[in-house]
Amino acid sequence: MQKRKLTVLSGAGISAESGMATFRDEGGLWAQHDISEVATPEAFESNPEKVLNFYNERRRKLLEIKPNAAHYQLAKWEKTFDINIITQNVDDLHERAGSSRVIHLHGELLKARSTSNEQHIYDWNKDIHLGDTCPHGSQLRPHIVWFGEAVPKMAYAEQIVAKSDILIVIGTSLQVYPAAGLIHAFTRSQKIYYIDPQPNTSTIDSSVVIIKSKASEGLLNLEKTLLRDEK
Ligand code: OAD
Repeated sequence: MQKRKLTVLSGAGISAESGMATFRDEGGLWAQHDISEVATPEAFESNPEKVLNFYNERRRKLLEIKPNAAHYQLAKWEKTFDINIITQNVDDLHERAGSSRVIHLHGELLKARSTSNEQHIYDWNKDIHLGDTCPHGSQLRPHIVWFGEAVPKMAYAEQIVAKSDILIVIGTSLQVYPAAGLIHAFTRSQKIYYIDPQPNTSTIDSSVVIIKSKASEGLLNLEKTLLRDEK
């Protein structure tokens, strides 16, 4: 029997139990840092050191933490489902837990790219400093999609969502577009679950099944329902 196609749209909340800060929860990253000063191309133009430092801190933190039960649960489900993970996260916790198909909509912290050619992307697990250049001599920048920049993987992500049987949205405030709009690439006949202790219900309709809990607990509960439907 063919495996059902399950797509996950994950956000910062799935990595919260690993110790990674979310953005918009109380005391989150955007309460401590001004987006316009650390996460835009203009900020990098005017104060590159500040922007590099912000992402250097995030990268150092990422290297200290580990995937949590939610990441492992999704990796385990590959035995049962044909899974694609579309993540807004720039961490590599899904991959480290063993998930094999992960699309990073907003880039990856453990990569750096050339400021003069966006196709020149390099594995990078240390700080990026002013003066760090690619092999072609251009300054490196974090491989992150900043506010105001295009999200190159959106079209591909939309195709995946449109073809799936089940969509699980986990740990995202669904406030950042175009990523948040992905739930609308789904047709009515498909099933959507949304796991989040404080779900943002303003953009979803009543057919979405809301599981108001932390990612690991929510996935564990959902496992019973999904596996029962597989029998
Ligand atoms: P947010 O910080 O906006 O939302 C995090 C969500 O996770 C909230 O809805 C929380 O309720 C939920 N949450 C907190 N703890 C959780 C837990 N243990 N388990 C499950 N959910 C939990 O983060 P995102 O929606 O991912 O983009 O933010 C989207 C984008 O905005 C990010 O990719 C980033 C940011 O600006 C860029 O930097 C381009």
